[in-house]
Amino acid sequence: MKTLTRKSGLRGTITVPGDKSISHRAVMFGALAEGTTTIHGFLKGADCLSTIGCFRAMGIDIEEKDNMIYVHGKGLHGLSAPKNVLDVGNSGTTTRLISGILAGQPFTSELSGDASLNSRPMKRIITPLTMMHADITSKNGDGCAPLIIHGKPLTAIHYDSPVASAQVKSCVLLAGLYADGETSVTEPALSRDHTERMLRSFGADIRTEGTTCTIRPPETLHSQHIEVPGDISSAAFFIVAALITPDSEILIQNVGINPTRAGILEVCRAMNADLTLENVREAGGEPVADIRVKTSRLRGTVIEGDIIPALIDELPVIALMACFAEGETIIRDAHELRVKESDRIAIVSENLTAMGADVIPTDDGFLINSRQNASADTDSAGSRASFSGAALHGASIACAMDHRIAMTFSIAGINADGETVITDSDCVDVSYPDFFRQLHSLCPEK
Ligand code: S3P
Repeated sequence: MKTLTRKSGLRGTITVPGDKSISHRAVMFGALAEGTTTIHGFLKGADCLSTIGCFRAMGIDIEEKDNMIYVHGKGLHGLSAPKNVLDVGNSGTTTRLISGILAGQPFTSELSGDASLNSRPMKRIITPLTMMHADITSKNGDGCAPLIIHGKPLTAIHYDSPVASAQVKSCVLLAGLYADGETSVTEPALSRDHTERMLRSFGADIRTEGTTCTIRPPETLHSQHIEVPGDISSAAFFIVAALITPDSEILIQNVGINPTRAGILEVCRAMNADLTLENVREAGGEPVADIRVKTSRLRGTVIEGDIIPALIDELPVIALMACFAEGETIIRDAHELRVKESDRIAIVSENLTAMGADVIPTDDGFLINSRQNASADTDSAGSRASFSGAALHGASIACAMDHRIAMTFSIAGINADGETVITDSDCVDVSYPDFFRQLHSLCPEK
């Protein structure tokens, strides 16, 4: 449990932990490559440790020394049958990506996770894998994990995905490593492309045209050195913290700004944020920058359409930011938020409302400050009342064990009157074990 109270004047320089999506993939592709893959900047959060645990259980030797992870790959056909159920913890990425790999192995496996993971939709991978003639079933027949996979040779397909999901796309492409020809996926909007970038660096023949990605099964993958940049999804909490907390200026170093992930930067610009990218460079095939952020007078915006996949994990904290902006913010086309680690549309709306914010949940997003906007529009003087930021008050926050909800409402808590209590705060360990220490390091001692 953590209790937060109002702060001002956030100052300092921080480095956020390694990118979660890239860390998962580095271990997975390293395990399937010939030779030893070295990973620098690996995120030692619970989700990525679940991926390491699964590959160790399939005979892959993975060591940690001198701040590096060494994955001693055994090649595309080197995994061995796990003796027990593979424990995927809270990690949707582990579950959906590994399923693509397991579908093509010459053994049977079972995947299961925690209560949240075992209630998330897996039909979205069962459907395309079944089209590839994989044998994958939901053990309880509810379309969720536990999943039972009897590995077998796979048939190449073209898959028109109904959802812009990097997990679905990656699952099909990884199954494509074991298929009898070219496998391709078209998605309705481009989702994060770390799988494509990294598999290419491991030597796979993979190409992208528009929102279609095609892979040809390789003979082998070759081990690599992977530099994992800081996770923009973790940086997002501190970007918003600095923007809404009075008198703040912080520098966040070494953040991945891959365009398929950096939608929050575009939204910040549209909202009049004082945010600058410094030292923009490329590291390990991914664009990286240092991000300087200062307290800003924000204005509302509309967030919809193709940008949604590029900021899907940041929407909880973006919704908080919008409470501190002048005018209405509309977030739509984000149905996917309902099937993340929790129903993030419901939980963000409930908790923000409990803190006194003006938020209306919709089927696929939020209306924020729309009531305030309506009353300002009908102002008898004909001019809009001036807006001086959301007047939030503390509340007890139920996080449903969702790491991004715990972090979003910690940032809300330092901008609210009274005490904000995050009950299940330990869940931040899923992606950001050092979160509270770093937050504290930016807050001046009184
Ligand atoms: C991820 C893809 C996204 C994202 C998740 C990580 C990945 O999920 O929300 O946190 O690493 O591929 P979806 O593919 O379900 O959109």
